[in-house]
Amino acid sequence: MVTARLPYPQVKSFTEPAALRARAEELGVELPVDASVDPSGPLAAPVTVDDGPAGGLRVPNRFAVLPMEGWDGTTDGLPTELVERRWRRFGASGAGLIWGGEAVAVRHDGRANPNQLVIGPDRVEPLAALLAALRSEADGVGVAPVVGLQLTHSGRWSRPDGPPAPRTARVDPVLDHRVGAGPSDVLSDDELDELVARFVDAAELAAAAGFDFVDVKACHGYLGHELLMATERPGRYGGDLANRTRFLRTVVAEVRARVPDLAMGVRLSLFDPGPHEPGPDGTGRPSPGAGPTFGPVGPDGRPDLGEAVEVVRLLGDAGVRLVCTTAASPYWAPHVQRPAWFPPSDGYLPPRDPLVDTAVLLAAARDLRAAAPPGTLVVGTGYTYLQQFLPHVGQATVRDGWVDLVGLGRMVLSYPELPADVLAGRPLRTRVVCRTFSDCTTAPRNGLPSGCYPLDPFYKQRPERVELAAAKRRGREGS
Ligand SMILES: Cc1cc2nc3c(=O)[nH]c(=O)nc-3n(C[C@H](O)[C@H](O)[C@H](O)COP(=O)(O)O)c2cc1C
Ligand code: SF4
Repeated sequence: MVTARLPYPQVKSFTEPAALRARAEELGVELPVDASVDPSGPLAAPVTVDDGPAGGLRVPNRFAVLPMEGWDGTTDGLPTELVERRWRRFGASGAGLIWGGEAVAVRHDGRANPNQLVIGPDRVEPLAALLAALRSEADGVGVAPVVGLQLTHSGRWSRPDGPPAPRTARVDPVLDHRVGAGPSDVLSDDELDELVARFVDAAELAAAAGFDFVDVKACHGYLGHELLMATERPGRYGGDLANRTRFLRTVVAEVRARVPDLAMGVRLSLFDPGPHEPGPDGTGRPSPGAGPTFGPVGPDGRPDLGEAVEVVRLLGDAGVRLVCTTAASPYWAPHVQRPAWFPPSDGYLPPRDPLVDTAVLLAAARDLRAAAPPGTLVVGTGYTYLQQFLPHVGQATVRDGWVDLVGLGRMVLSYPELPADVLAGRPLRTRVVCRTFSDCTTAPRNGLPSGCYPLDPFYKQRPERVELAAAKRRGREGS
């Protein structure tokens, strides 16, 4: 484990938006920062998704809650009280869009942990109840959000019963070593055909449970994302971009045919610098010998979005109007995927000011949106690191056309009411602003449920907090 002794100013220390703007200029990165936030300005403007039922779906404001699982379902994949609490808080946020809730496996073998939710014909009622709980909280704050369900197969990162049980899309020397995978774990073309059918069944069940859309997850190193990297895979699902997108395109086309009123979204890792590991001083550096990535990052640090743009255009042709941006994977490049001051226990010290990674994520969303088919709504990711200035950057990025919606991840775990407070013109409750302590990532890495242990009173008093502190201590002593 690593501890933070970083030579960068903390965002927390900036007293004015101008100080954040000045720091971005000093770093040479583009980051629009408004001086003040107008509660009835760009963040409050509704927007319509031109998909789903006739007339489309009305998103009442520009905040989106990003999917976040909690490693806290039952071992047979059903929601628990902890899951329901998180979904209620997503609803109470006042956000206009709930992107996915959390990753839900389409099949037992595709669970990333033994407590991940699984969808199936006997699960429609529990999922409908979860959705109803979320909607009743949203009603309480006067918002009717558009709500989707994120569908996944965890592929290489599957641990359905605890130990790693990888099913990969391709051979990758570095990542295979990390999960103990070999050539025999690569899913065959026939197995992928079968899995397409499971995604389509799952989408139909999500529609029956009342969700407005499904997200066919293609990010963070899980199966849908790894297939996009499979340039060296032979057969129908590897090689050129047409083959590497076959899985995604077929799922989208078959869901469209089977459930025409269900809107479709895709969460896509737009770029990826490849696996990182701690160097001798604990700072992250690229792992040598890794396979090709989807959206490589050049030596100048600029991501190549060429193929991501192509994928979004192909999806646009298939009628997908919702795209949620993200990058890389929390397993191998957490500094890119969720910029943090304090790294997770299995991470490394950030190789550069995390503000740079935040700006790179947002600029990638901007560049993708500029190249996406008209009518595509793009959700931006990476705002939590901006802390008390999240609303100032959120407003500027919506107004300047960088994104259509401001996606919030960790901030919603510590401070779910942030969107409601911003839209009502209330001052931020700085005490609960996420300071990127990464405990919500460290806990599951140590087999504990995720939650905001430092700032959410509910998790602060749970027994797992003691276990988490012990796990962090053991990690420090072991390093
Ligand atoms: C505890 C936790 C669980 C997450 N689970 C998911 C998930 O199920 N699906 C997904 O696409 N992203 C997941 N993410 C990533 C977030 O959606 C988001 O991309 C990331 O936290 C960066 O956004 P932020 O800077 O606002 O936190 C998770 C993140 C955290 C911290
Ligand atoms: S544990 Fe809480 S403060 Fe730390 S990163 Fe997660 S949400 Fe933020």
